[in-house]
Amino acid sequence: MLQRSGLAGHLFEKPPWRPPSKRRPPTTVALLVLTVFLMAALVTYSLWIGTSGVLIKNSRDKTSSVVVSKKPKVPIQRIEIPLNCTNGKNQTQTCPTNYPKTFRTEDIDPSLNPVCPDYFRWIHEDLRPWKTSGITRGMVERANGAATFHLVIKGGKAYVKNYRQAIQTRDVFTIWGILQLLRKYPGGLPDLEIMFDTEDRPGIRSRDYIGPNATAPPPLFRYCGDKETLDIVFPDWSFWGWAEINIKPWDSILKEIKEGNRKIKWIDREPYAYWKGNPFVDENRQDLLKCNVTDQQDWNARLFIQDWILEGQQGFKQSNVADQCTYRYKIYIEGYAWSVSEKYILACDSVTFMVQPQFYDFFMRSMQPVEHYWPIRDDDKCRSLKFAVDWGNNHKKKAHEIGKAASSFMQEQLKMDYVYDYMYHLLNEYAKLLKFEPRIPEGATELCSEVMACHAEGQQGRKKKFMMESLVKGPSITNPCTLPPPYDRLALAAFLRRKDNSILQVKKWEEGYWESLNKQQ
Ligand SMILES: *[C@@H]1O[C@H](CO)[C@@H](O)[C@H](O)[C@H]1NC(C)=O
Ligand SMILES: *[C@@H]1O[C@H](CO)[C@@H](O)[C@H](O)[C@H]1NC(C)=O
Ligand SMILES: *[C@@H]1O[C@H](CO)[C@@H](O)[C@H](O)[C@H]1NC(C)=O
Ligand SMILES: *[C@@H]1O[C@H](CO)[C@@H](O)[C@H](O)[C@H]1NC(C)=O
Repeated sequence: MLQRSGLAGHLFEKPPWRPPSKRRPPTTVALLVLTVFLMAALVTYSLWIGTSGVLIKNSRDKTSSVVVSKKPKVPIQRIEIPLNCTNGKNQTQTCPTNYPKTFRTEDIDPSLNPVCPDYFRWIHEDLRPWKTSGITRGMVERANGAATFHLVIKGGKAYVKNYRQAIQTRDVFTIWGILQLLRKYPGGLPDLEIMFDTEDRPGIRSRDYIGPNATAPPPLFRYCGDKETLDIVFPDWSFWGWAEINIKPWDSILKEIKEGNRKIKWIDREPYAYWKGNPFVDENRQDLLKCNVTDQQDWNARLFIQDWILEGQQGFKQSNVADQCTYRYKIYIEGYAWSVSEKYILACDSVTFMVQPQFYDFFMRSMQPVEHYWPIRDDDKCRSLKFAVDWGNNHKKKAHEIGKAASSFMQEQLKMDYVYDYMYHLLNEYAKLLKFEPRIPEGATELCSEVMACHAEGQQGRKKKFMMESLVKGPSITNPCTLPPPYDRLALAAFLRRKDNSILQVKKWEEGYWESLNKQQ
């Protein structure tokens, strides 16, 4: 299997460091042109020999099939299917039997679909440990000691067996997300079984599964991973809402942050590095607090403690993430593991200052330092922050570009449609590896959106509110995006090297900055 840590280690070659730029390197452009050309050629060819039967059958004018640039469409009505909640508290809520079993799309030729964002390539990397062995029932069941729940899809329906109490409503909203995926793409998921752990830190250590006598690792889904573990990364619950602390579903937040970004122009924002959060979850965060401004020092950081209990009592007036784009720079620092705050910080068009992270979620692996965020050292935070703010205030245009690159990444590549497509492809690729017939475990219950939402109570009604807000209205009328192929090993190594080199470059600038400051004194 791929040694992720090994690939990241090559720092010694001459750094071909490139300043952040929207331009693609010429080779990429050439490749892109070539790909487009090849695809066009392929389509033309298949049309010409008539293998694409659907395409020809469905186009009214058969002679027009030469015009391949226009995507033929068969108009399909988008239908909305509201939840069918039974009235009367005494009746048990049942799952509907008349929800469509398949989705029909306007796209006749799925190969003409847009390719998914680049971070989808990591699906292949996450599943690589089982690529040759496949996944047996034994492997799945060995994960049950760590799992919060066991989820089974069988005949398009979802069944869940709980093993443990999850933290807050993490399990509820994660399962809700999967049920929405079933509403969006009915018939789109094959039968499968997954084990899911809702705790923060990854736990399937790769070093336990190396060597001649090693067993295959158990496949375990969770919200983040790191380079020492093999856990399979899945979108976290907060995409559908975090009821306990009033964080709305991602769709709503993206809209609000877009507004928030417009409210105060970047240049008019406070020219400091801002952070607000809970420092008590990790020492690293407490270390950050030492960089706060005092009468004696100013590291250009403005740091605040988020008191969630107090916020709750005051109706969360001070904690609206969309109102927090008021500083030019925003610090992201991990908590006990990765933090859900990451996407809200990146979505602001302020520059994200990312304190060297250990963990990754499903999308951040394809983001680049200096292009999408500014790297901050974790072993010398204050000096690193001071330099970064000075750099940004002296290179305003470039700094703002970094902020905008990240916010458009969030708005475009991480919109909810892509989050669903990521889940769709990850679960489909995973299911292809299963070497057993999925079955409904004893003690599992069937879950559907109706059962979860109709009588949902809790968190002052926020649980139900967020569910209704994030409800998928009906089956999709477009296909999921097309899964890109795995990285080839050289391309992946080059990609990781570029990442390392950018971080190294910033460290060098930082050292130069402090040297020149010390000389002046
Ligand atoms: C709602 O469910 C009930 C029974 O579960 C069924 O009789 C009824 O036809 C459903 N209504 C709609 C609009 O599907
Ligand atoms: C609902 O159930 C309770 C307890 O089982 C019963 O006392 C009550 O009469 C029922 N109400 C209706 C409307 O069926
Ligand atoms: C692997 O198993 C064989 C046979 O049981 C044993 O002789 C050998 O020492 C084991 N190797 C390791 C590295 O554990
Ligand atoms: C950091 O400094 C600001 C400004 O003096 C202050 O308002 C804030 O409470 C401080 N934060 C912490 C965590 O002490």
